Formats: sequence, structure tokens, C-alpha cells
Amino acid sequence: MEKYNENLNWRYATKKFDPEQKLSKDQVETLLESIQLSASSYGLQPYEVFVIEDEDIRKKLKAASWDQPQITDASHLLVFANLTEINEDYVNSYLKNISKTRKLDLEKLKGLEDMLKNTVLQFSQEEKSIWAANQAYIALGNFLSAAASQKIDTCPMEGFDAAKYDEILGLKDKGLTTAVIATMGFRSEEDQAQHATKVRKNKEELFHLI
Ligand SMILES: Cc1cc2nc3c(=O)[nH]c(=O)nc-3n(C[C@H](O)[C@H](O)[C@H](O)COP(=O)(O)O)c2cc1C
Repeated sequence: MEKYNENLNWRYATKKFDPEQKLSKDQVETLLESIQLSASSYGLQPYEVFVIEDEDIRKKLKAASWDQPQITDASHLLVFANLTEINEDYVNSYLKNISKTRKLDLEKLKGLEDMLKNTVLQFSQEEKSIWAANQAYIALGNFLSAAASQKIDTCPMEGFDAAKYDEILGLKDKGLTTAVIATMGFRSEEDQAQHATKVRKNKEELFHLI
């Protein structure tokens, strides 16, 4: 645990990546797996993640991200896109996946099916999209911690124009919208941000022992 927190202290929102240093295939796979293994409400994983290496697309996305240099300098850019609509078909395909993976009759999943149909499927379209984006943020958090544990640098980012991202990546037609993004790679020695002391609320402000 000590080591885990040590790694969290080591990480910081990287402002300047070394553009020459790329993640290996294995490193990318490990980090993507940390996203795949993320917890989500009911296990529905209402998001998809775009892993972007393409330079031309990244140039366009950088212009839609207040020109933040991480977008093009990092090894990879991840776009966490949440579903904008969650319908019965989506729920049914999830139930089928459980049934197949766990070799269970679908009838055994009737309780879960009813629960999903009485909760998530009853949300308004806006509530569904917000709920789905919340799930994507959990995946983002896992990814940041997993990267830190591998001494891989990241920057989580909300400084971008989601409508432009959706347009550049053609997300609307896929029933998706950009929730949040992150870059991953290796810090530049010149990044002054790595030397800044962490600023956090103190424990008395943050935690309440009841
Ligand atoms: C959801 C989210 C969005 C963020 N957006 C940006 C961003 O657009 N650009 C940026 O440089 N940093 C961004 N940050 C980084 C934060 O400013 C940073 O995490 C915070 O100041 C704490 O510092 P630390 O992560 O270096 O410990 C974002 C962080 C989070 C979690």
C-alpha cells in the first residue's frame, strides 16, 4: 500500500511530454486492460475508448483542446466516450454476455433484467448520458492509477470542445459523445510541473470519521 501511494505521489498531470518516447505495445495493452477491468454501475460499461496515435487526427484534436501540447506530444491519446442512449437492446446484449460468460440460463438473470429495466432504462436521455459519463470517469481514475503503478505518465483532460471531438471522430453516429480524455507517455525533463509540490485538502477537511 505504501508503494501504491508512493506511485500516486510520483504521478502528476503531465504538461510536457517527451515526444520521442513511446509506450511499448505491452504497456499500452496493460493500461487498456485496467480500463477494461474497471467497475461500472451494474457492470454495464456504458462507454467506449478510442486509442489515438494518428498524427493528423491528433493535430485536429489539439486545435479543439485549447492547443494543449500534450495532445500531440504524448505517446497516445485516449478518448473516453460515453453512450448517449441506453436502450433495451443494449441491456439484452449485456445479459446475453453474462449468460454466455458464466454459462447461465438467461432465465436466471430475470432479477437483474427487471432491475435494469426499472432503473437505468427509466432514466431520461439526459440522465442516461450523465450516468454513462460518470462510469467513464471511474475508468479514467483506474487508468491514471494503473499508469502511475507502471511509472507511465498521464494527463487527464477536460479542456477540450466535446462537440468538435464528436465531429472529428464521428461519434454521434455511433451513439457516443466525448466524456473526458487522457494522454499517456513519458514526461519531458523540461516539464517544470513535475517539481511542484502536490496541493491537496488536508485530511481533516477531506475525511469525516463518523
Ligand atoms: C477530469 C480532469 C480534467 C483535467 N483537465 C486538465 C486539462 O485539460 N489540462 C491540464 O493540463 N490538466 C488537467 N487536469 C489536471 C489537474 O489540473 C490536476 O490533476 C490537478 O491540478 C491535481 O494535480 P496533479 O494531478 O498533478 O496531482 C485535469 C484533471 C482531471 C481529473
